[in-house]
Amino acid sequence: MYTYYIEETGYIFIEPIRSYDIDEVLEIEKLCFSVPWSEESFRLEIEKNSFAKYLVAKHEGKVIGYGGMWLIVDESHITNIAIHPNYRRRGIGRVLLFSLMREAVKYKIKSMTLEVRVSNYAAQALYSELGFVEGGIRKGYYADMQEDALIMWNYDIEATIRSFDRF
Ligand SMILES: CC(C)(COP(=O)(O)OP(=O)(O)OC[C@H]1O[C@@H](n2cnc3c(N)ncnc32)[C@H](O)[C@@H]1OP(=O)(O)O)[C@@H](O)C(=O)NCCC(=O)NCCS
Repeated sequence: MYTYYIEETGYIFIEPIRSYDIDEVLEIEKLCFSVPWSEESFRLEIEKNSFAKYLVAKHEGKVIGYGGMWLIVDESHITNIAIHPNYRRRGIGRVLLFSLMREAVKYKIKSMTLEVRVSNYAAQALYSELGFVEGGIRKGYYADMQEDALIMWNYDIEATIRSFDRF
C-alpha cells in the first residue's frame, strides 16, 4: 500500500495487518514492551474493532514493525508503534508513523494523539520530528512501574504530511 526505499535496508512495504501477521507481531511486541499485548488483544483489535487500523512494515516478506490507531470522529489515537530492535534508527519508525497519518487523513482525521512513557526519549524524539507537541501528563498511567505518561498531540496531520513531501 505504501512503499519506501530506506538506504541501509532497501524496500519497505507498509500494508494493513492481516491475522496471519499476528505471530510475527507478537515476537516484536515481546522484544519491545515490558507489558506486551496478548495475542487475544491483537486479534480483537484486528478482527473486531471497526475503529482500529493497524499497519505492518515488511522487509523481504518479514514483519519488522507495526503500528496501530483508533479513529474517533476527527481524531486518531495511536495505540502502539514498534520496530524490531535489529531495524531501529534507519527511519522505519518514521515512515510507519507517516503512513498511519496518510491512512488517517483518508478518514478525514485532523489530529493525532498518543501517550508515551516520560522516560521513552527515543519515541518522543520521533513524535516531535513528526509534528507532535506535549499536551499534558497522565500520572501513573503505566501500571507496571507507576510511570507517568506524556500526552502528545499533532493538531494538523495534513500539514505534517505536506511538510514531509520528500516521502
Ligand atoms: C520508538 C521507535 C518506534 C522508533 O523507531 P525507529 O525506526 O528506530 O525510529 P527512526 O529510525 O524512524 O527514527 C526517526 C527519528 O526519531 C528519533 N529517534 C529514534 N530513535 C531514537 C533514539 N534511540 N534516540 C534519539 N532519537 C531517536 C530521531 O530523531 C530519528 O531520526 P534520526 O535517526 O535521523 O536522528 C523504536 O525505538 C521502538 O520500537 N521502540 C520500542 C517500542 C516503543 O517504545 N514504542 C513507542 C511506544 S509510545
